[in-house]
Amino acid sequence: MSRLIRNRVTEMLGVELPIVQAPMGWIARSQLASAVSNAGGMGIIETSSGELDAIRAEIRRMRELTDKPFGVNIAQAFVRDPDIVRFVIDEGVRFVTTSAGDPTKHTASLKAAGLTVFHVVPTLRGALKAVEAGVDGLVVEGGEGGGFKNPRDVSSMVLLPLVRAKVKLPIIAAGGMLDGATMAAAFALGAEGIQLGTRMVSAAESPVHENWKQAIVAAAETDTIFLNRRFGPALRALRTERSASLEDADQNVMGEFGRVKDLYFGGDMNASLALCGQVAGRIESVRPVAEILSEIREQFFETIDRLAEAYVRG
Ligand SMILES: Cc1cc2nc3c(=O)[nH]c(=O)nc-3n(C[C@H](O)[C@H](O)[C@H](O)COP(=O)(O)O)c2cc1C
Repeated sequence: MSRLIRNRVTEMLGVELPIVQAPMGWIARSQLASAVSNAGGMGIIETSSGELDAIRAEIRRMRELTDKPFGVNIAQAFVRDPDIVRFVIDEGVRFVTTSAGDPTKHTASLKAAGLTVFHVVPTLRGALKAVEAGVDGLVVEGGEGGGFKNPRDVSSMVLLPLVRAKVKLPIIAAGGMLDGATMAAAFALGAEGIQLGTRMVSAAESPVHENWKQAIVAAAETDTIFLNRRFGPALRALRTERSASLEDADQNVMGEFGRVKDLYFGGDMNASLALCGQVAGRIESVRPVAEILSEIREQFFETIDRLAEAYVRG
C-alpha cells in the first residue's frame, strides 16, 4: 500500500504532496509551476515581476498545462496596483500567498471571494499580525532562504518552533528546505508543508539560463551574501563579483539590480543579483521537478521510519 501524506496543508491546498514551489519573479511562470502541480505539489505563479499582462497569459496557460491546483503570490512591495486582488479573483485562482507587506491589506477581500490565503512571515511578530488579519495559514520563512529578507534574519531552526508554539494555523516552512530530511525536520518543528525556492531555480524546468543553474550547483554553503541589512529590504544572493562589491555598501543597493533579464535569461551572472539561499551548497545537480518531488516523498518516509526505529522502539 502506498503511503500518503495527509494533513491540513494537503487538505486546504487540494494537493497530493505538501510541497510548494516558491514564487520568484520571472521564474515562477507556467513552465515551472505546471511541472510542480503535475508532480503533485503546488505550483505558484509570481507577480513580483510586475508584468501583469504576461502573468494573466501565464495563468491561462496553466489551465492548458495542468488540471491540478496551482496558486498565485501577491508580492505586496512589488505590486502596488490596487486592482491586483480583483485580477487574481477574476482569473479564478483559489490559493494565494501574500508576502512582503501588511497582511491586513488584502486578506479580507481575498477571503470574502472564497480564496485560501497564506501570508509569508519572517518573525513571530509578523506571524501574530497575520493571524489577527484572518489568514488561513502561514509560510514561515527563515533567513537562510534566498530572495528578499527581513534585515533581522532568523533561521528556520529557531523561527519554526517559535511560531508553532504561539500559533495554531498550518505552517509551510521556507528557507533551507531541500529534501526528505529537511521536510521531516520542518515537520518535527511544527510545519505541515515546505516551500522550495533555490531548489526550484535550479530545476530542469526552471526557465533561467544554464549559467545560473550551474552556479548554484557549484556553490558552497558559504557562497551566498546577505545584502542591504542596514537599509532594507535585505536580500540573500549568490556570491558574484557584483554582489560581493555591494556587501559593505553604505547606500541602499535596491538601485543596483541592473539588467535582470540579462542575468536570468542571458546568463551574464554579473548583470544583476542572483537571489539564492544557503541551501545552494547542498544542490549537486539540475534535475527534473517530478524526480525531485518523488525523491523528497520517499526520503521523508525513510527519515521518519529511521527515527522511529532508532529512538521509539529502542
Ligand atoms: C530568485 C528568487 C526570487 C524570489 N522571489 C520571491 C517573490 O517574488 N515573492 C516571495 O514571496 N518570495 C520570493 N522569494 C523567496 C522564496 O519564496 C522562498 O521563500 C525562499 O527562496 C525559500 O528559501 P530557499 O531559497 O532556501 O528555498 C524568492 C527567492 C528566490 C531564490
